Amino acid sequence: MNLSLRCAHVTRCAAAGAFGALLVGVATPARAETGYDAWLRYAPIPTEIARARYTSLPRTIVLLGDSPVLRTARDELARGLDAMLSEPVALTAAIGRGPAIVLGTRDRALSALPGAGVPQRLDVDGFWLGTSSTGGRRLLVVAGQNDRGVLSGVFALLRRIALHEDIAQLNERQEPAAPIRWVNHWDNLDGTIERGYAGRSIFFENGRVLDDLTRVRDYGRLLASIGINGATINNVNANAIVITDGFIPQLARVAEALRPWGIALSVSIDFSSPRRIGGLDTFDPLDARVAAFWKDRVDALYRAIPDLGGVVLKADSEGRLGPSAYGRTHADAANVIARALAPHGGVIFYRGFVYDHLMDWRNVKNDRARAAYDNFKALDGQLDSNVILQIKHGPIDFQVREPASPLFGALQKTNQAIELQITQEYLGQQRHVCFLVPMWKEVLDFDMQATGAGTPVKDLVSGRTFGRPVGGFVGVSNVGRDTNWLAHDLAMANLYGFGRLAWNPSATSRDIATDWTKLTFGQDPQVVDTVTSILLDSWPAYERYTGPLGAGTLTDIIGVHYGPGIESSERNGWGQWHRANGTGIGMNRTVATGTGFVAQYSPPVAARYESLASTPDELLLFFQHVPYTHVLHSGKTVIQHIYDSHEQGAQDAAGFVERWRRLERLIDPERYRGVLSKLEYQAGHAIVWRDGINNWFLWLSGIPDATGRAGRFPGRIEAESMTLERFSRAAVIPWETASAGQAATCAAGGSCAARHTYQGASGTFDVAVHYFDENDGAARFAFSVGGREVDSWIADAQLGSSSPNGHTSTRRTVRGVRLAPGDEIRVEVSPAGSDGGALDYIELVPVR
Ligand code: GCU
Repeated sequence: MNLSLRCAHVTRCAAAGAFGALLVGVATPARAETGYDAWLRYAPIPTEIARARYTSLPRTIVLLGDSPVLRTARDELARGLDAMLSEPVALTAAIGRGPAIVLGTRDRALSALPGAGVPQRLDVDGFWLGTSSTGGRRLLVVAGQNDRGVLSGVFALLRRIALHEDIAQLNERQEPAAPIRWVNHWDNLDGTIERGYAGRSIFFENGRVLDDLTRVRDYGRLLASIGINGATINNVNANAIVITDGFIPQLARVAEALRPWGIALSVSIDFSSPRRIGGLDTFDPLDARVAAFWKDRVDALYRAIPDLGGVVLKADSEGRLGPSAYGRTHADAANVIARALAPHGGVIFYRGFVYDHLMDWRNVKNDRARAAYDNFKALDGQLDSNVILQIKHGPIDFQVREPASPLFGALQKTNQAIELQITQEYLGQQRHVCFLVPMWKEVLDFDMQATGAGTPVKDLVSGRTFGRPVGGFVGVSNVGRDTNWLAHDLAMANLYGFGRLAWNPSATSRDIATDWTKLTFGQDPQVVDTVTSILLDSWPAYERYTGPLGAGTLTDIIGVHYGPGIESSERNGWGQWHRANGTGIGMNRTVATGTGFVAQYSPPVAARYESLASTPDELLLFFQHVPYTHVLHSGKTVIQHIYDSHEQGAQDAAGFVERWRRLERLIDPERYRGVLSKLEYQAGHAIVWRDGINNWFLWLSGIPDATGRAGRFPGRIEAESMTLERFSRAAVIPWETASAGQAATCAAGGSCAARHTYQGASGTFDVAVHYFDENDGAARFAFSVGGREVDSWIADAQLGSSSPNGHTSTRRTVRGVRLAPGDEIRVEVSPAGSDGGALDYIELVPVR
C-alpha cells in the first residue's frame, strides 16, 4: 500500500483511525483576498448551512490506487473539505466499515464496490459522482474514466459544496464534450507575453524557464479545476530554441509541475527549425533530411517528456516561414511533423490563421476573411489523423463581433479545434470588463448547416458531427505574474468560462457567470445579482462603444489594438477594412457584387448573409456595404445607430461603476477597490471611444445626430483654449482621439499649468479632467480651485503608448467641486521622466 501523503499545504499530519488512516487538518489562515485563489477560495461554509447539508458527509477519504494525479485529487479534496467545513479529514487506502468518500478510476471502483451503481462506461476524462449505502455504510463515490476523471470529479464535488448545493443523493455522470480542452500561451522566452496584459510570464525569464515554478503549479490547479487537459506554454511566434537539447530539460521541469494536475505540456515550434537549429540548408517538408530532423527532435522531446501533448505550428502567417517557401502545401507541412509525433501518440495543432497581410487594399475583391477557407478547404482529407486544424472563431481576428468562421462547416475529413481568445486583445485588454462567454456561445451555438440543419459549431469542433477522432477547444490564456493572474478580477470569469464551455459548450452564460461569481465573491444575493448582471451586460456594452453592426472593433489595428484608431484599418495590406467613405460603410462580401466570401457558407447560411434584407443588424457591416441612411431592422438609420449606440455604451460603462459601488460593504475591500478603479477607468475610456467614433462619423458622413449629442459637449473646456503656462498646443494623431483634435502638451523640464476662470452660476460640479497617461514616465497632475489643491494624482499607467492618442487618453473625475463666478480652475502638470503629461480638456458636469 502506497499511502504517500504529501503535506505541502497541510499544517498537521497525524496517524489515527481503525484502518491506518491519517487525520489531516488544514489551518486556513485569515488572508487578504488578492484574487490569487480565483474561484478556488474554498471559503468557510456558514455553520447553519454546513450543519443542514453536510453533517452526514463522510470525513474519511479512501483512495483506490495510486498515481500523482490521484494523490492530487485526494489532497485537493482534503484541502477543500477542511477549508470549507473546518473539520479534519482522514485519509486511507482501504474501504472500511464506516462512511467514506471513495476516489478511484471506474475500473477499481467497480471491482471494489460492485453494487454501488458505478457506470459500466464513461467517456475519456469523464467521471461519476454517486452516493450509495452499500453494506450499511454511507459512501460517496467519485469514479473517473481515468485518473484525470477522478480529479475532475473531485473538483465537481468541491464546487457543489462551495456553491452550498445539496449532495445527499448524488448520481451524476459527466463527460467532456471533446478530448481537446487546451490553453495556449503567447509567452516569449525573455519573459514578455505577446498580447499579455497581466505582467510577465509565469514560465520564462531571460531566455530560460523560471527557477521557481510555484505559480505554474497553482495555475495547473486552476486549469484542472475547470477540466483543461493541455497547455502550450510558448508563443505561436515561436523561438526555434525551445526544441534544442539545451532547452528541452527546462521544458521537462514545466511538464513536471503540470503533470500532477493532469495537464499535458505542449510547445509551439518554428517551421524553419531544420535550418535555424538543425544545421540543414532547407526546411522543405518533402526533403528526407527535414523529416529526419523532425523525428529526431520529437523523439528527444518525448524522451524527456513522455506524456507531451504535442506541438502547435503557425506557418506562412504574419511573416512566419512556412511550406510556401518551397511551393509545398500546408498538408505537407503538417504531415511531416505529424508522422514524427504519431508513434508517441502526439498531435500537431496546425493553425488556420493563415492570410496575406500584404494584400492590395485598392482591389475591392480582395478579402482577408476568405483566407482560412481558401487555404484549407481544398486540403480536407489530406491531413493525417493526428493533425488538428486550429481555427480562430471568426474569419478575421478576435474582433468584437464576427460571424463564425465558415471553415468550421467546410471540413468533413479534418480534425478541428476552435481557437478562442481569453486574453482581451481587441476587447479592452483587461482594463475593461468584457465577459466573453456570451460572445463565444453565439459562435459555438451557430448552426453552420453543414449537411442540413443541426450542425452547430460546438459539434463540428468536438468531432461529433463527422465522427472525427479528436478535436475541441483551445483558449489563448496569457495569464501573467500579476497576483490575480489576468490583472482584472472580473477577467478571470473568462478563463473560468472557457474551461466550463470546453467541458460543456451547452452550459448557459448565466449559469457560468452565476457560479463564477458565487465561487469568487461569495453568495450574498445582491453581490451575485450585481456581478452577474455586470458580466452579462459587459460584452454588449463594449460592442456598443467600440464597433457596432459588425464593422470590427474600430481600434488601432496596426499597433496595440486598444483605443480607437478608425482609419488604421484602411489603405494598408492587413485587410481589416471597413471601407467607410462619405456616403456609406461596410465590406461587401456578397457573391453578387462583393468579394464572394459569403459563398464559403453552406447554401442556407449563405442565402441569409447574401441578402441585405436577411443579414442580421449586428453583422450588417461585416457582409454589406450600405449608405449611412440605410434603415436597419430596428427602424433606425445606420448613422443614427452608430451615434446612439456609442452614447448608450458609454452610459452602460458608467452604470457599471454605480452598480459596483453598491457592493462596497459586501465585498472584501481589496477586490472592491481594485475592480472599482478599473471600472472607473473604463467608464472614462468608453467616453474616449464614444467621442472618437461619433466625431469621426459625424465628420465623414456630414449627417448630424438627430438627438444633437454627437459633437456637442456642454461644459467642456478644451485645454488649448485655456490660459496656458509653458504648455504647447499640439495636434493629436489620429485626430479623433482628442477632443477637437488637439491637446496641450507639457515638455519635460518643468511644470506647466492650464487656467480657466469660471463665469457660470454658483453650483457643485463633478469635474472631469481628461489627460493622456503616457508610458514613458509618471507625470504628476494637480487640480486646484481658487488656489487650493483639490486633487492630485500620478499618471503612471502603462497603456501601450508613449504618445497622446486613443490608448493613453484617460479621465479623472474630481467629485463635488463647488464653483462660484470668478473662481480660477487650474490644472498643473509636473512631468517626470520624458512623460510629457498632455492635457485634453476639462468638463464641468453639474451635480443635481
Ligand atoms: C493576432 C495577434 C498577434 C498574434 C496573431 C496570431 O494577429 O495580434 O499578436 O501573433 O494574432 O494569432 O498568430
